[in-house]
This record gives sequence, C-alpha cells and structure tokens, in this order.
Amino acid sequence: MSVGSQTEPVALQCADDERYEFSRRAGLAQGQPIGNLMAQALQFPDLISLAAGFVDNATLPCEAAERCLQRLCADHSKLRRALQYDATAGNLELRKCIAEWSHRAQPEFAPEPERIILTSGSNQFLHLLAEAIINPGDIVLVAAPTYFVFLGTLKGIDAQVVGVRADQDGICIDALRERMEQIALAGDAPRLKAIYLVTDFDNPGGSTLSLSRRQELIEVVSRWRKQHGSLLLISDNAYHLLRYRGEPLPALSSFDAQAEEYIVELGTFSKCFSPGIRVGWGVVPSYLVERLLEMKSNVDFGSPHFNQVLMQEAITSGEVDRHLPTIRDAYECKLNAMLDALQASFGADSGVSWRRPSGGLYVWLTLPEHMDASESGSLWPAAVQRGVLYVPGHYCYPELGEGVARNTIRLSFGVQDPAGITDGIRRLADAIASQ
Ligand SMILES: Cc1ncc(COP(=O)(O)O)c(C=O)c1O
Repeated sequence: MSVGSQTEPVALQCADDERYEFSRRAGLAQGQPIGNLMAQALQFPDLISLAAGFVDNATLPCEAAERCLQRLCADHSKLRRALQYDATAGNLELRKCIAEWSHRAQPEFAPEPERIILTSGSNQFLHLLAEAIINPGDIVLVAAPTYFVFLGTLKGIDAQVVGVRADQDGICIDALRERMEQIALAGDAPRLKAIYLVTDFDNPGGSTLSLSRRQELIEVVSRWRKQHGSLLLISDNAYHLLRYRGEPLPALSSFDAQAEEYIVELGTFSKCFSPGIRVGWGVVPSYLVERLLEMKSNVDFGSPHFNQVLMQEAITSGEVDRHLPTIRDAYECKLNAMLDALQASFGADSGVSWRRPSGGLYVWLTLPEHMDASESGSLWPAAVQRGVLYVPGHYCYPELGEGVARNTIRLSFGVQDPAGITDGIRRLADAIASQ
C-alpha cells in the first residue's frame, strides 16, 4: 500500500467499498502479517502449531493467582485502592518491588523505583518509548533477526530500521561497528536514536548476548555517545528469567557506571508469570521519565491498577519466585524434546542447522539456502498440508541492513507438550524432505 508523501492523508478502501480518509499514521500501520497467515492455516484440523509464542496453558499459575486474589479480596482497604485509578507511572509499591526484585536477581543492577514506568505489558512500553524518541526517518539498529512485533511498531512510526548481523551469541559487534561507521560517514549520526536487542534467549533467534559482547557493546555505545551525542541502548529482557541451564549473565546496565544515562532495561511478568495480567515495565534514564509520563497520560494516564496490585501481591508473597522452577522445568523438558527431535530428523547431510538456546521459548532453524520458508515458497503449503505451523523467518528481518534470510524458521516449544513437539518436528522434516 502506498502511503503517499509525508503530509498526504491516506485514502483506504473500506470493507463496504466506501472510501474513508484515515490518518497517515493509520496508513503506516500494516498490522502483523503473521496473524493472517495463522488464521488461514488454522482452518486445518489437527494442526500442530510450533508458531505461536504463547506460554504454556498447563503451567499458568492458577493456584498462585487464586491465593493472591483471595488475600487481596480479604483486605478491603487494599482492594478498594486496587479498584481505583493510580499514578500514570503505576503503583509505587510495585515499582519498589520490581526494583528490589531485579536487584536481588542481579545484584549489580539497582534501578531506582522513580525510573521505573509500569505499562500494559512491555510491548506498550516499547511503543511509548518509540513514540517519544523517534521522528519519521530516524534510524534504529536492531539485531537481525529480531522481535517482529517491535519491527511493526517501528514501521508504524516511519522509523528507518536497519538490521545488524546476529548469531548464537547475539548481535555481532564487528557488524554493529561497521554499520555505525557507515551512518557516521554518511552524516546521519544525529538520526541514529537507538539500538534494540532482546538480550537473553532472543525472540526469535534463541540467542543470548555473550559476556564478552556485552562488554564490547557497552564500549561501542559509550564511544559513539562521546563522539556524536545521545544514543539509547534498549535491552529487552522479556525472557531473562526463563533460563534452563548455565548461569545468568549480568544485565547490560551493570557494565558501566554511566549506564543509567543511556540504557533502557525492559521487563515483563508475561513470560515468567501470566501474560493475561499483562504487567510490564521499563527502567529509563531519569531525563526521559517526565516526557514519557506526559505521553502516557495522553494515552491512558496509567495502566490497569488492579493488575499491578495483584502482581505486587504475587511478588511480595513469593508466589512468582516459587512459580519459576515449575515453568523452568516444564520448558526445559519441551526444549529438550525439540532439540532431540531435530537431531533425530535432520542428519549432518540435510543442510538444516539450528541454534541450541539455554532458555526462552524459541529455536531458530536455518534451511539449505535454496529453500524459501515464506508463505510464497513451496515449503509453507507443504508444512500446512502435513499439519504443522511455523513462523517464516523473513518476518523477523527489517528491510534494510543485513539481508533477509528467507530460508529461516522460528519454532516455538512453548505451547505443545513434548509428544506434540516431536510429532510437529517429524511433520516439518517430512515437509522439508519433500522440497
Ligand atoms: C521480545 C519480546 N519483547 C516483548 C514482548 C511483549 O510482552 P508483553 O507485552 O506481554 O510484556 C514479547 C512478547 O512475546 C517479546 O517476545
């Protein structure tokens, strides 16, 4: 769809064939194409979805949530406050809890509650931040592949998103340095506003930024800031707590005493507790707080307070910490089932390779170069016909920068049980063998 010039309103065709003049912003919003794809495919019965990035229904914390709700409902003065609006930044007690909780999990990271903004999921925070810092044409560097929902957000505000090569250890620092040098040489340094990464167990790549790359990344960004001025490093920690093996790595903020001037750390309870409660947050440099809150006050003047009080109860009562081992065990078992099934299905001569994450919900698969896993290639219908669904990897690349790898697939092991995962991989292998 053409959106015309920068100021031109967009005329879109309505379903009933009347013309309606939407805003230019609406014209830029293309929704998430994956949604359509899934809707089409879901018409097939007995489909095994290795596509949806949902957490497992079976491990949702029903009993823990019930206990928290009972305690909350038994204390009417607390309940009355929970049923009322609260501050735009969100419930202060929960912000203090998050600060302490983050500090306990990562001793070298001690965010002040005043720098924490609560949102309806971290997705809302990403949107708010993007709106606050990016003008049309501004540049954002992202690891390629990256979280496709945020790519949609950035596209919706007309950002110029440039992909930077990433591998099993996260974004490649040499490739990042090269991109940044190109931007500076082209005189575009003032337009480079942010670098975005899903730091642990990336969605979609399953990769985790290694310790040495964390250090190098901070050095690269610090040097840029000295030479060219402001640049934000956005560290999305959505999957940080879903680690199944190895030791946690320190938050990016712990590598630099000046970190709070340029690093934005995102968190969410969606993956580690409940996406239905949908409480997320951002820890931001203090100079951003007021403006972000002014913008948020124009949207909703605060995310649902009841959910925040519920999450505060879940943290202070230890329910979240007690729930974590349960989900980690369940997901580790599913991850192992997926890795075993891949190993059993694809021999060394198959030309198929995959990353082996230590956590999160995703495995990233690379097929032989000639294969096209997108819906316009022949693998997608072959897979749907065999009753298995995946996310075509090309959705996870921005148009600019690192080339789009159409021979890639995101597999999620969150939803299916181990038997479903094994069956799904068998069907996928059969589809791939048919190519
Ligand atoms: C990398 C990443 N960031 C952020 C989110 C948003 O999660 P929520 O808005 O539920 O906190 C997701 C959800 O899948 C994600 O994968």
